[in-house]
Amino acid sequence: MKGLGMRTTWQEADGRASALLFCLFGSKLQESNDMDGIYRELRLFYFSGTGNSKAAAQWVAGEAEALGLPTRLLDLERLPADALEGLGPGCLVGIFSPTHGFNLPPLVLSFLAQLPRGGGAAAFVVNTRAGMKMGRWFTPGLSGVALLMAAIFLKAKGFRLVGLRPLDMPSNWVSFHPGLRAAVVASILGRCQAILQRSARRVLEGGTDFKGLRSLPIDLALAPVALLYFAAGRFYLAKSFYANADCDHCGLCQRHCPTSSISERGGQLRWSFTCESCMRCLNACPRRAIQTQHGLLALWTWLASGLAIPALGSWLGLSAGFSLAGLLAQALVWWLALWGGYELSAWAARWAFWRALRDRSSLTWWRFWRRYDPRRALARMRRPGR
Ligand SMILES: Cc1cc2nc3c(=O)[nH]c(=O)nc-3n(C[C@H](O)[C@H](O)[C@H](O)COP(=O)(O)O)c2cc1C
Ligand code: SF4
Ligand code: SF4
Repeated sequence: MKGLGMRTTWQEADGRASALLFCLFGSKLQESNDMDGIYRELRLFYFSGTGNSKAAAQWVAGEAEALGLPTRLLDLERLPADALEGLGPGCLVGIFSPTHGFNLPPLVLSFLAQLPRGGGAAAFVVNTRAGMKMGRWFTPGLSGVALLMAAIFLKAKGFRLVGLRPLDMPSNWVSFHPGLRAAVVASILGRCQAILQRSARRVLEGGTDFKGLRSLPIDLALAPVALLYFAAGRFYLAKSFYANADCDHCGLCQRHCPTSSISERGGQLRWSFTCESCMRCLNACPRRAIQTQHGLLALWTWLASGLAIPALGSWLGLSAGFSLAGLLAQALVWWLALWGGYELSAWAARWAFWRALRDRSSLTWWRFWRRYDPRRALARMRRPGR
């Protein structure tokens, strides 16, 4: 593969961002033509809840294969023993991940933390985000600290960064919105495929793509929200799932959960706090039985913050202002309300009136609320590569 040398990169266009990066990573991002753009192998690591990040990795693999570059696609859920052996100069590593709560999912963060030293291998990161389409306009998602976290880990492990690229794939977060129409999904996927193939060619031929750093100020401003999601939000979402009476206990969701977070007790499926809200189970259940209990979550939230926390505060004589004891007491009440409410709801599901209340107050239960399954649209698209 012949390198084309450096093209005009974002660094030339934005000196201020470059200076910021210098502070963040301790050295200038290297221009990657120091190796004449020649890589001897490509390893693409991906985690994907519903298929977006996997599709992105496959598109890049298609480009690499067209250039004759030996490529391995590696699923973080089942890494072969030799997946991380022999990293070093000439090796190009790609990391593909969804964005969860303005950050990378814990599963991806822990993979990055366990990466061995890169020994000068080059690396790029693609974070897929919640893209939407309004009329003719494609709207972007928000990365928050997702790319920065990856960059910090990779840099600390001795990798040479050559790309940080967000990709606005169709949003899979159907707990929060009613899902995108099939035509919109296909349109967003087609756009993303073209964008990523262009970016991949540039990186594979020895260039760089740091598009992800253009939104650095917004992304840094979202860091506190990312922290809040990591510390509390994801647990809240984990306890939002339940399977209703349509479940026939086929076990598919349990078998395919990347974190083994679904168990069965007393004839009821339960989601544990380890669930990463990747949306795979909810979107893939063949009986459409998995729901988000919006109404009941709102009830627990009101009981905790509207009743229990003020009552506890006055009982303990805690002032309204900030205090560590007050914060810890509040966190404990929240946790109890969340866990207790979830268990109570599963127990009360023996009564038809409770099941009806739980279903009817869940937005995902209503028929107009779509699921996200990009498989059909992806199958209809061009095969990776050409
Ligand atoms: C729990 C959760 C949190 C999310 N948070 C964000 C976010 O902070 N920013 C964003 O742009 N997209 C967010 N998304 C959307 C996904 O990152 C996006 O749809 C991604 O492409 C899904 O990739 P996958 O199919 O490979 O899992 C979130 C989705 C879920 C399920
Ligand atoms: S995939 Fe659906 S039907 Fe099968 S066990 Fe899970 S919730 Fe029940
Ligand atoms: S329980 Fe469902 S949403 Fe949670 S990690 Fe497993 S498959 Fe993903």
